[in-house]
Amino acid sequence: MDNRPIGFLDSGVGGLTVVRELMRQLPHEEIVYIGDSARAPYGPRPAEQIREYTWELVNFLLTKNVKMIVFACNTATAVAWEEVKEKLKIPVLGVILPGSSAAIKSSTGGKIGVIGTPMTIASDIYNEKIKALAPQMEVQSLACPKFAPLVESNQIASSVAKKVVYESLAPLVGKVDTLVLGCTHYPLLRPIIQNVMGPQVTLIDSGAECVRDISVLLNYFQINRSRDGEGVKHRFYTTANPESFKMIAINWLDQDIPVEHATLLVKKGEK
Ligand code: DGL
Repeated sequence: MDNRPIGFLDSGVGGLTVVRELMRQLPHEEIVYIGDSARAPYGPRPAEQIREYTWELVNFLLTKNVKMIVFACNTATAVAWEEVKEKLKIPVLGVILPGSSAAIKSSTGGKIGVIGTPMTIASDIYNEKIKALAPQMEVQSLACPKFAPLVESNQIASSVAKKVVYESLAPLVGKVDTLVLGCTHYPLLRPIIQNVMGPQVTLIDSGAECVRDISVLLNYFQINRSRDGEGVKHRFYTTANPESFKMIAINWLDQDIPVEHATLLVKKGEK
């Protein structure tokens, strides 16, 4: 047993899609979340900058005495997961491998689409991971740079969102049987994405898929939280305005949560 919290990081509110699934599947686990909304989106930034920011988020979570870190962000996973996981003594999980496996499992016709931020798509990591496991799969990738900003600005139900999603996904419509939502922000746009792609296309939520892996690792290392102790006290931090974060979080998680402002320690050269 290990009663320390699990740490989650994302460029902003996207990781809440992972948190929602964690709260459903593992309600006894305590959460510390850091979202870097002040600097979101990460997707269009250069790899070196994303790497630096990701280390700042990791170091922040380490100050909260977490027992595991979940990269609830595809972009950070694509750029920095391998490196961070090698350097830390606690388990570090990303969302890309679980998303890739789930897509292979669900694909009936071998045609998988992947949507993500410019960095995730440029890294070609989903294509590589899917092909490494199942070379017969055809993968078509598409960057959707406008989606994460729509979610960060809480415009998910707007007519602008509908128009942007419709126009952005046009190249994939009718071409895939499975679509990986390769950015944790995208499940917040899920109804619109499903509507545009059609009911026959299975949507894969990479973040939600990773919760199964969290559960497996907790069991493997025997670090589940004890159920006899006190109740969980989740903590959510944002580098931007806590009220804006809270508004999105309450809607998405369907519960009130405490949100605090966090200042990240920028430690240049100490990575
Ligand atoms: N939520 C993140 C992801 O999964 C990043 C979105 C962004 O900041 O560009 O890739």
